[in-house]
Amino acid sequence: MHWTTLLTLVLAAPCSAVVRFHCSQLVVERIDPLVEPGSIPSAHVHQIVGGNSFNVSMDPKKDMPAESTCTTCQFSEDFSNYWTAVLYFRAQNGSYKRVPQLGNNQFEKAKGGLTIYYMQDAIYDPDQKSKVTAFQPGFRMFIGNVSARTIDDAARYRQLTYVCMDTWTMRAPETMAFPTRKCKEGIMTSIRFPTCWDGKNLDSPDHMSHMSYPETGTFESGGPCPATHPVRTAQVMYEVVWDTKIFNNLEWPKDGSSPFVWSFGDATGFGTHGDYVFGWKGNALQRILDAPCNFYSNCSAESQSKLQSIDAMNKCSVPTVVDENIDGWLTELPGGYQASYGHSHE
Ligand SMILES: *[C@@H]1O[C@H](CO)[C@@H](O)[C@H](O)[C@H]1NC(C)=O
Ligand SMILES: *[C@@H]1O[C@H](CO)[C@@H](O)[C@H](O)[C@H]1NC(C)=O
Ligand SMILES: *[C@@H]1O[C@H](CO)[C@@H](O)[C@H](O)[C@H]1NC(C)=O
Ligand SMILES: *[C@@H]1O[C@H](CO)[C@@H](O)[C@H](O)[C@H]1NC(C)=O
Repeated sequence: MHWTTLLTLVLAAPCSAVVRFHCSQLVVERIDPLVEPGSIPSAHVHQIVGGNSFNVSMDPKKDMPAESTCTTCQFSEDFSNYWTAVLYFRAQNGSYKRVPQLGNNQFEKAKGGLTIYYMQDAIYDPDQKSKVTAFQPGFRMFIGNVSARTIDDAARYRQLTYVCMDTWTMRAPETMAFPTRKCKEGIMTSIRFPTCWDGKNLDSPDHMSHMSYPETGTFESGGPCPATHPVRTAQVMYEVVWDTKIFNNLEWPKDGSSPFVWSFGDATGFGTHGDYVFGWKGNALQRILDAPCNFYSNCSAESQSKLQSIDAMNKCSVPTVVDENIDGWLTELPGGYQASYGHSHE
């Protein structure tokens, strides 16, 4: 089922439950406290949102709500950090330019960043009332494969997708590869994390194996969690809107391939990935997840959670630690990457 249909049903069905809110940009730079803690710089550029206790390394015991003085997220008790890689446009002369980010539908005034969903339920089955469990302090996860360059590599992470947006609210069809045509409004990337936790480990060496997809079906179809990962969590999903339309009047590849390249050199789109570091205050997330509600304002009212204004979100940031040029026309991507098409194209 397509997301546009989901959205219609979500709005129509009072018992369905999905928390949707935005977080503005906190910083864009080569830092990665999850996969490469302590590295200044990390391998590739990221765009990060959330609490301003974000830093080069983040001890899992760190009290993120206590150490943050602000957050770029709409829910003022959410000091988590959420991040993805960054998109670049590759011109025909081989130079790269960073693709700016936009807010999202209903969050147009936000400074870039990403929209977060915590899906509480099989959102197009309003009769399902299964409880979902919030994450705990110190919990982290990663999804995707930076090295993936074929659809087979990417297929293991089945819900990491692109939408070529011809209109601002278009949400389908979703593809696993970069769109190859000019999208009138931009490209949306969506990252859906697995929803079954092993109930023991807050993290794992690959930042993935403590989590699993449902044993059969999907989160949305109410698929059961495997015995190894019995705890059903909310489905975390990111949406990022890339303002690719500003490149539509430049020359594009003559062979019909996409001119977009992830900051780690992937020109196929299959290497897309997301990082999550939980940092909600106290039981704020569980309180919201326990309230059957839709979207930020209803969820805030139903759970008595405070929201902050988009202006306040936009004001929160952290100073950049890595001093390098990530914008302008670059002859190579920061970290020295060049566009790579993997086996099929090189
Ligand atoms: C939230 O939305 C539900 C479903 O539309 C509605 O029944 C409820 O009254 C709303 N809550 C508030 C506080 O507006
Ligand atoms: C971030 O980490 C750096 C390097 O470890 C440290 O010097 C700096 O004080 C930290 N910043 C904050 C705000 O904690
Ligand atoms: C490469 O192409 C872009 C887009 O047309 C242009 O703005 C840039 O100046 C070019 N760079 C070089 C080194 O020619
Ligand atoms: C990631 O993709 C690479 C390249 O195909 C593959 O060798 C590797 O096994 C994959 N890793 C995971 C965890 O899927």
